[in-house]
Amino acid sequence: MIDLSGKTALVTGASRGIGQACARALDAAGARVLLNSRNEQDIAAVAAGLTNDPQLFAADLGVAGAGTELAERVAAAGGVDIVVNNAGIAMRRTPEDLTEADVDRVFNINVRGLLMLTVGLGESLKARDGASIINVSSVAGVIGPLGRVAYSGTKGAVDAMTRALAADWGPHGVRVNSIAPGLIETDIWRENLETIDGLRENMQAGIALRRWGAGSDIADVVLWLASDLSSYVTGETIVVDGGMSRVRSGAAPEVK
Ligand SMILES: NC(=O)c1ccc[n+]([C@@H]2O[C@H](COP(=O)([O-])OP(=O)(O)OC[C@H]3O[C@@H](n4cnc5c(N)ncnc54)[C@H](OP(=O)(O)O)[C@@H]3O)[C@@H](O)[C@H]2O)c1
Repeated sequence: MIDLSGKTALVTGASRGIGQACARALDAAGARVLLNSRNEQDIAAVAAGLTNDPQLFAADLGVAGAGTELAERVAAAGGVDIVVNNAGIAMRRTPEDLTEADVDRVFNINVRGLLMLTVGLGESLKARDGASIINVSSVAGVIGPLGRVAYSGTKGAVDAMTRALAADWGPHGVRVNSIAPGLIETDIWRENLETIDGLRENMQAGIALRRWGAGSDIADVVLWLASDLSSYVTGETIVVDGGMSRVRSGAAPEVK
């Protein structure tokens, strides 16, 4: 059992999906959780189920200046030991359909907001023993997915920033890692699952474990990265996809 008592954790995008599962798991492990999303009512509803004096930090991290401002608010409230940079949006656009406005939208939240929040928390993190930053990227940043060139670029950027920041802040004892989830059944997929026939089964067939993931599958790895059990791990991207992106698990051709 991982014990994070006495630690404070900020989770962005904590109102739903993976972020909500992380907030719950960190709270259950004894951490005090600071919850962010754009919607104060939604994070208040999640906080109502937590036990260790949770605090709300509503902010739209896609807006210029918002990451820095949120970091200042969190530092003024006492700072954090653990940051789970999870807030993000997906975007499906063919290269032919992509506009500059699309690129700005997805990079502003998935990259700029994440980076400015994280660097803004630097002094508070360096002052803690065993600080851990966990960035939620995606298998889309590891493999080349169809029709997601901009989204894929944001997640590759998150993994690259993870390694660079691990170099900058390793000497200060701050660890920086990312988790690249595969197919996790959350609201991010709802419209596609409701409108594209056979999508669930088709995609599942490419997963070695033959199931979609749940938010808790990611939260379990977040707990490990947040704890001292991973104290010699930094600059890593951990793929959590049930064996999809790096495992060939479809039907094998009959060859000798
Ligand atoms: N589900 C998957 O299969 C999958 C796979 C790979 C990677 N991921 C990544 O995992 C992360 C979480 O995804 P999810 O599946 O849990 O999606 P989700 O259910 O749509 O949740 C996204 C969360 O991010 C928040 N958010 C979105 N835009 C925001 C903004 N501008 N400022 C602050 N918060 C914002 C949302 O809250 P509000 O709407 O209330 O602001 C919500 O809490 C994302 O970074 C996503 O790219 C997901």
